[in-house]
Amino acid sequence: MNSQKPKILAIIGQGYVGLPLAIAAVDAGWSVIGVDNHSGKVAQINSGSSPVEDISDAQLKLVISTGVYEATTDFSRTAEASVIAICVPTPLDEKREPDLSLLRSATNGIAPYISDETLVVSESTSYPGTLREVIIPIIDSLKPATSPTIYFASAPERVNPGDPLWNQKNTPRLIGAIDDKSKEKAHAFYSSLCDVAIAVSTPEVAEAAKLLENTFRLVNIALVNEFTQICAANGLNVHEVIDAASSKPYGFMPFRPGVGVGGHCIPVDPLYLTWWARQSGSKAEFVEAADVINLEMPKYVAERALSMVNSANKSPKVLILGVAYKPGVGDVRETPASELRNQLVSKGADVAWHDPLVVEWNGSRSVGIDWPCDIAILATRQPSMNLDQLISRGVLILDCTNSLNGVPGVTSL
Ligand SMILES: NC(=O)c1ccc[n+]([C@@H]2O[C@H](COP(=O)([O-])OP(=O)(O)OC[C@H]3O[C@@H](n4cnc5c(N)ncnc54)[C@H](O)[C@@H]3O)[C@@H](O)[C@H]2O)c1
Repeated sequence: MNSQKPKILAIIGQGYVGLPLAIAAVDAGWSVIGVDNHSGKVAQINSGSSPVEDISDAQLKLVISTGVYEATTDFSRTAEASVIAICVPTPLDEKREPDLSLLRSATNGIAPYISDETLVVSESTSYPGTLREVIIPIIDSLKPATSPTIYFASAPERVNPGDPLWNQKNTPRLIGAIDDKSKEKAHAFYSSLCDVAIAVSTPEVAEAAKLLENTFRLVNIALVNEFTQICAANGLNVHEVIDAASSKPYGFMPFRPGVGVGGHCIPVDPLYLTWWARQSGSKAEFVEAADVINLEMPKYVAERALSMVNSANKSPKVLILGVAYKPGVGDVRETPASELRNQLVSKGADVAWHDPLVVEWNGSRSVGIDWPCDIAILATRQPSMNLDQLISRGVLILDCTNSLNGVPGVTSL
């Protein structure tokens, strides 16, 4: 880093990516200004209540009380920073195409205040070219005349919320900078936070690598979801087959089936890839097929569960266990449980749900695990979920998580 500039980091967006980055940066000796345009969230954070599972209230209170972290809605505070990291959502629009409106508005928000010699990094996931074609032109056109020299890099975040092993420090970080000086600045910044910072030749390589990583997961999950349906139709337990294939020491990596894919990354990022492919007249048919298979998985799970209930029962009571998109988090964004519920309701079921980490979802509240039901679908196994009494009551369970393997009365997906 430029030794003249203070170690002040401004992070735009205080969510699943921005807040853990803030704490990791404080641990590495940075003072952090957390900018977010959601005033309620800023107030919540500044009161010491963490909105994300990976950061505890105690961690947050400590950094606030020692004056090394503060959340704010005031974009002008970014003028104090020597590094600005953009960590805002990059969702899909109604046509399921990239929606960069939040990224644009965040960039518009910081641009007039950037001080000279500041490093701007984008950690948000997006298609290759986003840094060069979207972020840099906005900043170049709105930056103060007193800030002729700004450094730029793309460093896509790889955080895996709820993961007890991999975190900001021990997950290698890719950096794609626009020139040598930006590369030097970005490498020094991330080397202060992470054990390993890997510089690639351009921002586009880093942006494309992030899409490849998440598309790799999408297509492998789709493959195993399709394979599961073939195994079930032929009376084979897919998990036994996956375990058997996993004994091969090379060239195979196990993926498990489930209700579908959820969260802000796996269902979304591959569609940034398919859109990017179309811009150059290329096709991403393989990825599109994987997307369709995963989207249809909730329908398959609903039909499979209802086929286990007495067919004379035209309105079976179905309990969905776990509606967050993965264990250990209360995040319901893009959760496949949503389509599972729609499918069950459309087939006449009376549906309730239970999730210890989610209080309210789609206008309804979590019921107790003792809700009387004809069948329970274990969609996401939350760590604090106590299934013993359900099992001892002899309730039919369709386990989509492979966590009740071999338990009597439980059917595995
Ligand atoms: N969640 C993950 O597991 C994960 C992992 C790797 C990468 N990513 C990527 O990181 C980015 C951020 O995702 P996230 O999960 O942290 O999102 P999030 O919704 O948890 O947090 C984003 C925050 O940004 C704020 N925000 C939105 N627009 C803003 C604006 N214009 N100005 C200031 N603040 C604004 C929101 O209020 C919110 O607090 C996305 O591009 C995502 O794809 C997410």
